[in-house]
Amino acid sequence: MVDLSVNIGDLNLKNPVMTASGTFGYGVEYQDFIDINSLGGIIVKGTTGSPREGNPYPRMAETPQGMLNAVGLQNKGVDAFINEIWPKIRTFDTNIIVNVSGSTIEEYVETAEKLALVPDIVGIELNISCPNVKEGGMAFGTSCSSARQVTRAVRNVFPRHLMVKLSPNVTDIVEIAKEVEDAGADSISLVNTFLGMAIDAETRRPLLSTITGGLSGPCIKPIALRMVWQVADAVKVPVVGMGGISSASDAIEFLLAGASAIQVGTANFINPSISQEIVNGIADYLVRHNFNSVTELIGALELD
Ligand SMILES: Cc1cc2nc3c(=O)[nH]c(=O)nc-3n(C[C@H](O)[C@H](O)[C@H](O)COP(=O)(O)O)c2cc1C
Repeated sequence: MVDLSVNIGDLNLKNPVMTASGTFGYGVEYQDFIDINSLGGIIVKGTTGSPREGNPYPRMAETPQGMLNAVGLQNKGVDAFINEIWPKIRTFDTNIIVNVSGSTIEEYVETAEKLALVPDIVGIELNISCPNVKEGGMAFGTSCSSARQVTRAVRNVFPRHLMVKLSPNVTDIVEIAKEVEDAGADSISLVNTFLGMAIDAETRRPLLSTITGGLSGPCIKPIALRMVWQVADAVKVPVVGMGGISSASDAIEFLLAGASAIQVGTANFINPSISQEIVNGIADYLVRHNFNSVTELIGALELD
């Protein structure tokens, strides 16, 4: 038997595989396909202070080895999350982390304050990186001072695990990672989607109603991996890696680059049981390579 458990700060995960926000609903939608309790954690859909309808359709487009989305944080708002959704998912035997977004610092704080009042919510993932909302979102994650301000403000009101999710749409991701670490993040997750666009040459029109959207899937993996490696080398808090992970070997690459855990996103749309297959594949790898614990892989990239 190999030990798959990892710690992200004070959070204990039975294995390093979590599902990424916006790609796995609230977990219940996937119950027919996989045993939710077999995962290390679920990051639920982006939650905001007030309900949001999201952007107009079309808001998804396929690209080679990936997809563009401009969903725009469609959700029922934090009150509906706490009153209607949380009671249905709180009994899952896994770490359920609530992804929090907002347009203003006040909205982030108000949402985090309400979630802090629900004692069995173990942590939040602060999305300061969404490229698909007009105001806010990515705006917070692309400047050092606003990344610091929003992290600090939420840190002051949320006493449990605070994971901060970074945008890759920056010149120097390490700079931003250090700011949020200083401001009190317990862990850092990366990456969110890359700003991209697609055009239909026949109609000469953009494929997304918002013209630009967020690129995800295998096509972003090499850039995401590079960013995870740079950030893991520069901060002391645990790093959670994602971006195009579609197999156990992809996941292991992120662990070797320094991630303590990983998230699976777009791959859930292609194969709804992929995250469980990745857990099994990591266990097989450990046996094949004579490791006792998955923690031996974290940051174990061989450089000479
Ligand atoms: C349809 C869709 C919706 C998403 N919604 C959110 C969201 O609400 N909050 C968030 O932080 N990230 C969101 N993301 C970003 C993913 O969580 C993830 O960071 C990104 O897709 C990269 O991972 P992947 O290549 O494995 O998909 C969304 C991604 C997709 C494709």
